[in-house]
Amino acid sequence: MRYKDMYRGWQQDPDGFWMEAARDIHWTKVPTKALFDDNAPIYDWFKDGETNACYNAVDRHVDAGRGDQTAIIYDSPVTDTTSQITFGELQTKVANLAGALTAKGIAKGDRVIVYMPMIPEAIVAMLACARIGAVHSVVFGGFAANELAVRIDDARPKAILAASCGIEPNRVVSYKPLLDQAIELADHKPDFCAIYQRDQQRADMIDGRDHDWDDFQTGVAPADCVPVTGDHPAYILYTSGTTGNPKGVVRATGGHLVALNWSMKHVYNVDAGDVFWAASDVGWVVGHSYICYGPLIHGNTTVVFEGKPVGTPDAGTFWRVIQDHKVKCLFTAPTAFRAIKRDDPTGALVGDYDISSLKSLFLAGERADPDTIAWAEDKLNVPVVDHWWQTETGWAIVGNPLGVEQLPFKIGSPTVPMPGYDVQILDDDGAPVAAGELGAIAIKLPLPPGTLATLWNAEDRFRDAYLTTFDGFYETGDAGYMDEDGYLYVMARTDDVINVAGHRLSTGAMEEVLAGHPDVAECAVIGAADALKGQEPIGFLCLNSGVTRGADEIVKECVGRIRSEIGPVAAFKRAVVLDRLPKTRSGKILRGIMVKIADGTEYKHPATIDDPAILDEVKTALTTIGLAK
Ligand code: COA
Ligand code: AMP
Repeated sequence: MRYKDMYRGWQQDPDGFWMEAARDIHWTKVPTKALFDDNAPIYDWFKDGETNACYNAVDRHVDAGRGDQTAIIYDSPVTDTTSQITFGELQTKVANLAGALTAKGIAKGDRVIVYMPMIPEAIVAMLACARIGAVHSVVFGGFAANELAVRIDDARPKAILAASCGIEPNRVVSYKPLLDQAIELADHKPDFCAIYQRDQQRADMIDGRDHDWDDFQTGVAPADCVPVTGDHPAYILYTSGTTGNPKGVVRATGGHLVALNWSMKHVYNVDAGDVFWAASDVGWVVGHSYICYGPLIHGNTTVVFEGKPVGTPDAGTFWRVIQDHKVKCLFTAPTAFRAIKRDDPTGALVGDYDISSLKSLFLAGERADPDTIAWAEDKLNVPVVDHWWQTETGWAIVGNPLGVEQLPFKIGSPTVPMPGYDVQILDDDGAPVAAGELGAIAIKLPLPPGTLATLWNAEDRFRDAYLTTFDGFYETGDAGYMDEDGYLYVMARTDDVINVAGHRLSTGAMEEVLAGHPDVAECAVIGAADALKGQEPIGFLCLNSGVTRGADEIVKECVGRIRSEIGPVAAFKRAVVLDRLPKTRSGKILRGIMVKIADGTEYKHPATIDDPAILDEVKTALTTIGLAK
């Protein structure tokens, strides 16, 4: 089938399209229809069906006689380990952990936070929750205790599953003290924690609250899969919004299973048994959809990689993993390729490995720059597919569906909308603009299965953040245009979200932390262009009158504050001190112009600016840290 026929088929009969896709999922009660729109503009998918995500990801492959197939390959250059887990072994591990959770009182609907590095136990933890209908919320290890505490207070977990430590190339990250501090900071307290002790650093346990991962599973009865309805929350994943309060994206079970399973063949063109590698982290949406659920539901072997594209030990690591595990499809962020290209510009290391198993490379998480795509195509000699999506959607909005038809690539475009997504470019009044004209990228409701159902405990925020700007549409927060052939070009965010090394961060959240410094009267954070990470956060600080301490000292403290309150992942390293910030007469900070000054691109003095001279002050300050060239 060709892409156009498939997309038209979905447009003509959306319910038929998704019910057909739902046939590839195991249901204990088959849904009678796909879409439930009685509560529009909040929609449910497969609501009257019953299923279990863990059964679909694990048990059904064992039941189909494929228990000996490898489910997970763990490859960890930072610990010099590789190991494999079959679907049969995974079933045992998951059932045992689910049994231990059940024995401790965790039941359907209870929340469980997972705070773990890239080890197979993180996947086991997620699936064990899914097995008993508990709602997991995985928190990325690069966040500080305070961010974990915010999530604990919002999700109110009964239990937390964590590891003693994570391993970054330059240090061991002690997870347990961060966890203890987060629980201390949070108002809500979990009933218990289970800690996976790693040999690299064992954690001190708190009597009565903390249990050893292995000990608490000893002697318990393994748990069976608990059927849940299609609208049951599979997980909550927090993502950055415009303020310091992260948004808890809720993924409902039925649509999540159907859409991810569909995407594995139609988008990524892999078949059961093929090795699929998403080089991301379980703490991000890519990790949820394409390290854990997507490949496993579809019967693929997934790679859990604990390392970096460079430095573990070198820029050839990706090629070594592809060779050793016969990876067919690699999915990563463009920044990973920029890092490899920086260390090995000619791609000499590619030649040291046999990467003939690789059939495609998919990039997402940030804009893929044409140079990086061209370099990857040249060195790997496979289709390089940029695809655009968000934590909220859980799977590709726009892409090139290799399993259906490889459409011609156009530089700078992630190609065309996937079925289920009616993508439109709207002007400020919500009217569609002509082909080639820039506007807000919006998606006509309903969003397809697998996308966010709502925000956890915050339906009003869900409506306000996504559904109110354009009546009948979901607002993506991205701006761009569509050409005459329906190819989308994603150009920029329309809000204060920035993207640093493929990680989504809120400048608003950073501003809240900086504003908390006792010497800071006012501040702003922008994302300046960065050749490696795409964007780098840059702070602007105005100090209280009477502060006599050196600016360098205060900047250093602010950098430390963001690291300890948001986390190292914010990669906030630089700030400048100004007497005042550029503002409009009505007091709005002109962040857009500050970005242009930092990037050295052309800008016009806005008519509404309070005092144009201040833009020169911004420029002078930025040149002192090597920007504004
Ligand atoms: N736990 C604890 N700390 C973490 C962490 C984790 N899971 N992940 C990152 N960090 C820390 C890093 O150690 C670093 O700390 P430092 O300031 O002490 O050096 C900081 O957070 C910033 O990390 P990162 O943005 O990853 O930068 P880097 O310089 O260490 O590495 C890249 C640069 C490009 C190699 C790296 O960002 C990368 O591999 N990017 C791919 C991104 C990706 O997969 N994104 C997922 C979306 S698909
Ligand atoms: P996240 O929720 O972390 O996946 O971040 C989603 C945001 O990252 C999107 O709204 C875009 O701003 C950006 N993004 C993701 N993929 C792409 C892409 N392929 N091209 C351009 N921007 C992208």
